[in-house]
Amino acid sequence: MPSLPKIYQKSRWDFLSLEKNGTLQIEGLSVQDIAKKYGTPVYVLAERSIRERFRDFKKSFPYPKLRVQYATKCNSNLEIMRIANEEGIELDASSVGEIILALLADFAPLEITFTNPNKSEQDVIFAARLGIQAITADSFEDLQLIESAGKKLRKKIRIFCRITPLIETGDYSTRRLQFGVPYAQYKRAMDMAMKSKHLELIGLHFHGPYIYNPRIYFHAAKKLFSVAEYLLREYNHKIRFIDLGGSFPIAHGEIQDVFHPRDMGRAFTNFFIKQAYKINLPLPYMVFEPGKFFVANAGVGLTKVISKKRANRINTLIVDGSTYAFLPDPLVYHCLYDILPATRMNIRRTCHYQIAGCTCDNIDIITRNAYLPTIETGDLLAVMDCGAYSNTMASNFNSLKRAPMVMVNQHGVPRLIRRRDRYSDMFAPELDVLKVADPQELKRYYDLWRVSLEKLWGGKKKKNGIQKAKSAPTFLNQKINN
Ligand SMILES: Cc1ncc(COP(=O)(O)O)c(C=O)c1O
Repeated sequence: MPSLPKIYQKSRWDFLSLEKNGTLQIEGLSVQDIAKKYGTPVYVLAERSIRERFRDFKKSFPYPKLRVQYATKCNSNLEIMRIANEEGIELDASSVGEIILALLADFAPLEITFTNPNKSEQDVIFAARLGIQAITADSFEDLQLIESAGKKLRKKIRIFCRITPLIETGDYSTRRLQFGVPYAQYKRAMDMAMKSKHLELIGLHFHGPYIYNPRIYFHAAKKLFSVAEYLLREYNHKIRFIDLGGSFPIAHGEIQDVFHPRDMGRAFTNFFIKQAYKINLPLPYMVFEPGKFFVANAGVGLTKVISKKRANRINTLIVDGSTYAFLPDPLVYHCLYDILPATRMNIRRTCHYQIAGCTCDNIDIITRNAYLPTIETGDLLAVMDCGAYSNTMASNFNSLKRAPMVMVNQHGVPRLIRRRDRYSDMFAPELDVLKVADPQELKRYYDLWRVSLEKLWGGKKKKNGIQKAKSAPTFLNQKINN
């Protein structure tokens, strides 16, 4: 299989190769074939890359009591969660919805933690009844809420307490971080947890924003161990889990040079063990909960060029994906992607393009400047490193369907792991209110133009007159008459 021209070669894209005609392949499977079978836009994930990253991460920390939890929020696809499960990874859920997904992916409750700043009492009761590993308290209010849920359940609920120390290193800062109990108030939080009849404090938690410098994990661990020392000294309480969150960096777009967990793993493990020895604490579990590190670089977004424009010396390609329904990173994080000319990989680059998404919003720009060969309408572009926070953050803006997701295994065999949205999915919340939703039925919506809108809206007249039904389809009549 021909390899990629040098300018496109990156070790993290080792699943890419070329067909003889210069078309990109993922694990040997032509992107043209993928587009033909599943349509565009479409997310493609390289299974081998995800599995290798799970394994690499675990190997990076030679610690006997390591627990790695996949942060579901970054890509909550059930098949990815199932693969995480197979690879011996646990789960970090950020909502009851993600806990339910975890159960569907066959995780045992004890393999699930639940961390977010806003839980309802019902959420806590659900998680506690299930018997998950721990619920992470984010604030004093959260401690109170979990305590009162425990009282209702007449049981002790296992908790981690999230603590946020002030860490400032170079341009990294937790100063504005809204999560966790501020470090200056940790004693009050610890006292509250220890004096409670319904809280069982088993772990301490930290999660910082995007971490470029491994030193931050050392700082955070040191602070959490000092909280652990307080618990030992004041209550003879031995904390069992020290959770340092996720946020490991990934190379993408203009950011190419980032550290790998293995660069810090050994030193961090030694440091962690020393901290525990120093305060005479039996070795606690070392927990990490990365998300994007596992899946971002394994994801390729395939999108088709639907039109070309040149105005004011700017060449624009409009594609059938968008920053709303497909690739929200440029909008949300202002980060740009590497974009490959998937159907013209062997042609010399000569043009600078602005690449625009397909919605009616002028800020729907995937990138302002992609250096590519001359691209024609109908060509495919491969948007790289989009395996995390794309599908889960995409919206149906413009009532566009979110894209399907396809997993390609190491032999180049694809399988659909999420279908494209359907209109019935998108409209159900409103159609349910109007009592016309019918879960099976998309093609029946073709008949909607014949529906008696007058009946549907309870006689409310539309300003410009409403279309009269000649005869409403039976299923709608039945629903409306009910
Ligand atoms: C509590 C918690 N843990 C883990 C993660 C995963 O972060 P990342 O995908 O940056 O590794 C997040 C992300 O927001 C988080 O909030």
